[in-house]
Amino acid sequence: MASFILDKAHEVVRASVKPGDTVIDATVGNGWDTAFLARLVGPDGRVVGFDIQTAAIDAARRRLAAEDLLERCWLFEESHEHPAGSLQAAGAGPPTAVMFNLGYLPGGDRSITTRAEATIGSLRRMIDLLVEGGVITVVAYKGHRGAADEVDELEEWSAALDKRRFSCELIEDPTGPPHAPILFVVRKLSSLRAAT
Ligand SMILES: C[S@@+](CC[C@H](N)C(=O)[O-])C[C@H]1O[C@@H](n2cnc3c(N)ncnc32)[C@H](O)[C@@H]1O
Repeated sequence: MASFILDKAHEVVRASVKPGDTVIDATVGNGWDTAFLARLVGPDGRVVGFDIQTAAIDAARRRLAAEDLLERCWLFEESHEHPAGSLQAAGAGPPTAVMFNLGYLPGGDRSITTRAEATIGSLRRMIDLLVEGGVITVVAYKGHRGAADEVDELEEWSAALDKRRFSCELIEDPTGPPHAPILFVVRKLSSLRAAT
């Protein structure tokens, strides 16, 4: 499961999250990223996770339970499009990091994938909720049906962000094949920095 881009996403998030933080896994899948986040925030932190598939939530719960991480995770079997209510239900504060890993559930039904419209809608809300100095990572794929549209819309969305308030970086695997995943890193600047 290791890849240049997935490792990069972890590296970026690791540098921004400290024990006790609230973080969001917007696409829980098999729970690899959820477990990574749960280790980072520690026993006093909270991970709020979303996935629309029962199979994903069940797989992630099993992984988290096996590592004794379940108690710090609130998993919602619903779309990531309306995170505010779920954060409140989890008793969680604003997130310092949000991770998206787009596409389909590995080992699951490949016809169920993230969709551009829901992803962009969710990003708009996540970025509002994010703390200043917080980060959003989006790992995006180009190979499956609908993936190219999703990448196009992500590029459009990120290019239109107010550069006084947000920074956006696109990271690609320099040695990867043409359809290798890419990583968007969006940071919410502190108001102090944004004002200068
Ligand atoms: C590539 S997988 C995620 C992998 C996961 N991060 C991991 O570490 O195993 C993408 C997941 O996004 C989920 N998904 C698709 N649309 C979604 C939505 N609107 N809200 C939340 N999850 C969604 C799919 O069900 C799938 O499990």
